[in-house]
Amino acid sequence: MIWTPKLSETVMSKVLVVVYSYTGTALAVAQLLCSQQPDWRLAHVTEERPRSGTLGYWRCVMDSLLARRPAIRYNGPPPSDFDAVVLVSPIWAFQLASPMRTFVHLRREELANVSVISTMGGKGAPNAFAEVAEILDQKLVLSTAFTQREVDDGSYAARLQAFGAAVAAAEDSTEAVRPVVLSPQTV
Ligand SMILES: Cc1cc2nc3c(=O)[nH]c(=O)nc-3n(C[C@H](O)[C@H](O)[C@H](O)COP(=O)(O)O)c2cc1C
Repeated sequence: MIWTPKLSETVMSKVLVVVYSYTGTALAVAQLLCSQQPDWRLAHVTEERPRSGTLGYWRCVMDSLLARRPAIRYNGPPPSDFDAVVLVSPIWAFQLASPMRTFVHLRREELANVSVISTMGGKGAPNAFAEVAEILDQKLVLSTAFTQREVDDGSYAARLQAFGAAVAAAEDSTEAVRPVVLSPQTV
């Protein structure tokens, strides 16, 4: 079931999409979202110390287990210039991928009306949503997750479009907006 927010007086005219991706899936989602919503800007979180091979994989896992915040680079405009921000990031060991954790911590004062998209094998997205909301001390506007399989076979595209439309229409207020998972069966 797709939840549709009530139309509001305030339309989210300036939306920034911030992506961190390790193996390209979250990046594909963020790029499709920005092509579906052509006025939205895409910004990238990368790592100062890239991960590769088996050691890189285990560093991802340990980062999640220890809630680490690795050093990152941010390539994009100031998030405070935007009415709303959509964060797109994978799940690692049932948690938010650590580079996105760092980004949210470093930029928390600049992030308004935040929505979150997780990409994952199948489990962990609710933990990531809760962590972002806790760091920001804000309710998320919207949240959703796509499985690796949905992204690989392209079947997520219509739901991503609906998610983008819902973000665009969401009220610029914490009052009537509550966290929503657009597809509960994926989390
Ligand atoms: C280190 C590591 C841990 C992962 N842990 C989980 C997990 O706990 N739950 C899950 O559903 N997927 C997990 N995955 C799968 C990724 O979340 C999924 O493949 C995601 O789409 C990858 O996004 P990316 O290509 O943008 O990095 C993990 C992947 C990696 C590399």
